[in-house]
Amino acid sequence: MAKRDVHYTEYFAETMQVLTSDGLLLVSVDRDGKPNAMTIGWATIGSIWGKPLFLVLVRPSRYTYGLIEATGDFTVNVPPKELAEVCAYCGTVSGRDYDKFAEKGLTATPSRRVNSPIIAECVIHYECRVVHKNDIVPAALVPEITASSYPAGDFHRVYFGEILAVYADEDARERISGPQAR
Ligand SMILES: Cc1cc2nc3c(=O)[nH]c(=O)nc-3n(C[C@H](O)[C@H](O)[C@H](O)COP(=O)(O)O)c2cc1C
Repeated sequence: MAKRDVHYTEYFAETMQVLTSDGLLLVSVDRDGKPNAMTIGWATIGSIWGKPLFLVLVRPSRYTYGLIEATGDFTVNVPPKELAEVCAYCGTVSGRDYDKFAEKGLTATPSRRVNSPIIAECVIHYECRVVHKNDIVPAALVPEITASSYPAGDFHRVYFGEILAVYADEDARERISGPQAR
């Protein structure tokens, strides 16, 4: 199905809904062009410096971290409901050990504006170029979040990705909701 260009806020509600349920699929790429997908649950879309931005939080222990550091870009892909199991998988195993695209039969399609590809089977796509990065500062974080989210340290790096392109399948909303009960 052809994917249609959309404004970066058009699917905000749907993207946040999937972010906070099954998770979104962040794709980065190594120097040889091999893609890797990682599930993310902590992120936000907004506007800073007059630019549309996707802020994503990646722990230094992730394989993805080194890839984004090297290339400076990523894509965020919103999966349809039937890929929930793929999100669980990509959020559990590392690209250091597995080729997640091959294992799950995902198709890496070249992006329009960045090096990292998109996942063709997903229904909404954000192409992002890192314009800033910042680390979570332990001394500036309230103790309850340090205790609940960072018992082992590994404080996230926040990547500020300028959204350069957004496009979606025509039936994105239906596919995100999944089969309707009758
Ligand atoms: C629902 C869900 C949400 C997640 N959100 C994040 C996140 O926002 N940031 C992060 O660093 N890891 C997150 N993870 C963990 C990574 O996806 C997981 O460690 C993954 O295996 C890393 O893959 P990589 O080593 O190939 O980069 C999440 C996992 C799940 C299941």
